[in-house]
Amino acid sequence: MTSHSHCTCRTAAAISPEMWAKIDAIIARHREQPGNLMPVLQEVQEAVGYLPPEVQDRIAEGLNVPGSDVFGVMSFYSMYTWRPKGKYVIRFCESPPCHVLGAENMLAAMKEELGVDLGGTTPDGLFTLETSACLGVCEVAPAMQINEVVHGHLTRDKIRQILADYRAGKAPDYKKLPYTTKDFRSYTQAPGELVLLSNVGVINPEKIEDYLAKGGYSALKKAVTTMTPEQVVEEVKTSGLRGRGGAGFPAGLKWSFTRPLQVPQKYIICNLDEGEPGTIKDRYIVEGDPHKVLEGMAIAGFAVGADYGYIYCRGEYYLCKHRLNTAIEQARAQGFLGKNLFGTDFSFDIEVRSGFGCYICGEETALIESIEGKRGYPRAKPPFPGVEGLWRKPTIVNNVETLASVPAIVEKGGAWYKSLGTEDTSGTKIYQIIGHVKTPQICEVPAGITLRELITTYGGGLRDGARFKMCQTGGASAGIVTEAALDVPIDFGMAKVGGALGSGTMLVMDESDIMAVLG
Ligand code: FES
Repeated sequence: MTSHSHCTCRTAAAISPEMWAKIDAIIARHREQPGNLMPVLQEVQEAVGYLPPEVQDRIAEGLNVPGSDVFGVMSFYSMYTWRPKGKYVIRFCESPPCHVLGAENMLAAMKEELGVDLGGTTPDGLFTLETSACLGVCEVAPAMQINEVVHGHLTRDKIRQILADYRAGKAPDYKKLPYTTKDFRSYTQAPGELVLLSNVGVINPEKIEDYLAKGGYSALKKAVTTMTPEQVVEEVKTSGLRGRGGAGFPAGLKWSFTRPLQVPQKYIICNLDEGEPGTIKDRYIVEGDPHKVLEGMAIAGFAVGADYGYIYCRGEYYLCKHRLNTAIEQARAQGFLGKNLFGTDFSFDIEVRSGFGCYICGEETALIESIEGKRGYPRAKPPFPGVEGLWRKPTIVNNVETLASVPAIVEKGGAWYKSLGTEDTSGTKIYQIIGHVKTPQICEVPAGITLRELITTYGGGLRDGARFKMCQTGGASAGIVTEAALDVPIDFGMAKVGGALGSGTMLVMDESDIMAVLG
C-alpha cells in the first residue's frame, strides 16, 4: 500500500485492536501541537483509509475537543472521507483549464471504462471515481490524480493503459518521481537570468549540498550576521517586490507594519495553497528548489522578528510536501534552521501543514483558520494578519514566489531587483501559459511581457493554426481579455484593460470555445 492508501473494501470493517493502538499513538504524538486537529485527521485517515464515526469520537476524546469540531472540519474539506473508498481514488479535474481541453469527454470515457458513475466504486474495490477542482497541474490538462500521482494529457487510450497498469499492481510511487508533471528544463527557456527558477532542474532538490554549492543560505547568513532586521525590510522595500499570490501588496511595506510590534511571538506563513485554477508555478519552485523557499522564510522571520514559520501546502501536492519535509530536516541538521542560527540569538524553525481540498484556504485569513485546525472561513479585516494573525499573533503571510524572491534581493540588493521588470511590477515573474496553445508551460521573465509574446514564444502559438479568441488572465477570479489586449504588458497595471496579473496564469482560448454570458 502507498502512504496515502485507501481501504480496499466498500463496507466499513471493524477497526482492529492494532489499528486502535496506531490511532491512539497518532493522537498522543500530536496532543501538544497547536492546531492539531487537521494533522491528526489526515494521519489517521492515511492509516485507516477513512474516518468512521467511532474513529471521529476517539479523536475528539483524545484531543479533548467537541465531536462537532471534528465533524465540522471533516465536512468542510473535500479530501476527508467517513466512508470506505476504493484502494485508488481517482480525482478527475473539472476546472476551466481542463474543461477547455476536453475534460468532460475524458470523464465520460473514464465512467465507461470503470462502469461506475461519479462517487461510485468498482465492484472489485479497486477504484472510486470523483471529480475535483483544479489539481494544480493545468499544463498537462486534461488531468486526473490517482491517490498521490498525477496523470495528464489524457486520452481514452491513455486512460485504458493507466487503469490496466494499476490493475496489474503497477501504481507509481510518487516519492520516486522527479516531478509531478514535467521537467522545467524541457520548456522554452527565457534568454535572461533566472532568479526564482535558477536551480530548478539543475540541482537535486533532495540534497542540501547541491543547494549550498549554488550559494544557498548565503543570503540568510548575510542578513543575520551583517544586517539589522530594519535594513532587510528596507532592502525588500527598495526592491519594489509585490506579493505574487495575486493581490500584489508590496512585501516590504507589509513587513514594515509587523517589524516594530513589540510582542513575544510572531509568525511567518508561506502560502503554497495555489488553488486558483491555472496556477502551477509555486509547485515548480518547491519541487525543484525547496531550500530557496525555506531560506526566504527564515530571512522574513529575521526581518520581522518571527521565530516560527508554517508552510501551508495544498493537500494534492504530495511531492511538494515530501520535498519540503526532506529539506527542513536537512536544513535543521546543518544549522540553517533551529536555535541560534550562525551563532546569533536569532532562531527560526518551520513546519509544513497540509490543506485538504478547499479552494478558499488560499485566502490568507481562511488559511490561518485552517492552520488553527478549524473550517477555513475567511476573517473580517481589519485587523490584518500582520497585526493579528495566527493565534491572534502578528503574522506575515506571503506566497511561495514572493518568499523565493527574497534571497536574491538580500544577496544582490533591492536596487538590482527593481531594475528588472516594469515600473509597476519589478523583478522577474513566473508566467503560466496554458489552454489552446501548442506548448503549455511556465517561464520566468522580467515582469511585463506581453500576452502576444507569451503565446508566441513560450506557448508556441495556437494549436492547429487556430485564431485567438480570448484569454482568462490571472486565474478564474480575474478578468477575460480579447485581441485588443495582446500587446499590453502583463503586470499589475493590466487591470486597466480589464485583465489582471493575478497569479500570472494565462488561459488562452481559441475560436472553438463558446462563451456563455449569464445574467
Ligand atoms: Fe485541471 Fe488545473 S489541473 S484545471
